[in-house]
Amino acid sequence: MNFDQIQEAKNFIEDKIEKTPEAGLILGSGLGSLAEEVDNVEYIPYKDIPHFPESTVKGHKGRLAIGTLEGKQVMAMQGRFHYYEGYSMKEVTLPVRVMQALGIDKVIVTNAAGGIDKNFSVGGLMLIQDHINFFGDNPLIGKNEDRFGTRFPDMTYAYNPELREVAKKAADQLSINLYEGVYMGVPGPSYETPAEINMARTLGASSVGMSTIPEVIVANHAGMKVLGISCITNMAAGILDKRLTHEEVQEVTTRVKEEFQQLVKTTLKQM
Ligand code: 6GU
Repeated sequence: MNFDQIQEAKNFIEDKIEKTPEAGLILGSGLGSLAEEVDNVEYIPYKDIPHFPESTVKGHKGRLAIGTLEGKQVMAMQGRFHYYEGYSMKEVTLPVRVMQALGIDKVIVTNAAGGIDKNFSVGGLMLIQDHINFFGDNPLIGKNEDRFGTRFPDMTYAYNPELREVAKKAADQLSINLYEGVYMGVPGPSYETPAEINMARTLGASSVGMSTIPEVIVANHAGMKVLGISCITNMAAGILDKRLTHEEVQEVTTRVKEEFQQLVKTTLKQM
């Protein structure tokens, strides 16, 4: 996906909307219903957008929702592309490049994640403080496009400290208990073994999931401010004496969705 193709996707979207979005919203597994609260919304299916990959996972609608949320112009992704689906890192992060082309400078990235920190409870929300890239891949590999960003982007403040404060304040106002921790991203699609989860904890991870990191790397390359929120849908392998199922992940996201949406909306309003 080169610069010109991104411009084509951007032009296609711009022609369909009245106001330019200022914030991006990437909605994780089971959390996409926030896109249905966008006002004056223009839905654009991914399959209609030039050079966009097509979403394959059940429970993912696969469209953009562009409009107003909490008085802010947003471009929400209802469903994202996952590396485990077989998309390249460049494909996974193409929507973030389109956000960049549209002039979006803030993005909220959300996901469903397994809890590694034993103090976490299922159904809790975690503010992402930092991440560990365990994908063994990076979306910036290859010739650098200088019009997108610098060759060696700094990741010291990958999750913007000011936005994190805004989210914490929002959680306070809503009386939502907000954990904070390090997200480890892995390719999946198999869940981890208990030994791998022990390793992840030793390395400093508090939660684990199969997304987010590619988008956050590209958003940082693009100079965007990033906020990340994990929904702890289950405890990771070996913490509780039970198996992990995708059904539990879906069930918990359904249960926590309301709180999650309140937190994202209140944060958005104040950022
Ligand atoms: Cl335990 N692991 C991974 N990799 N992704 C998850 C998860 C666990 N729980 C939800 N998503």
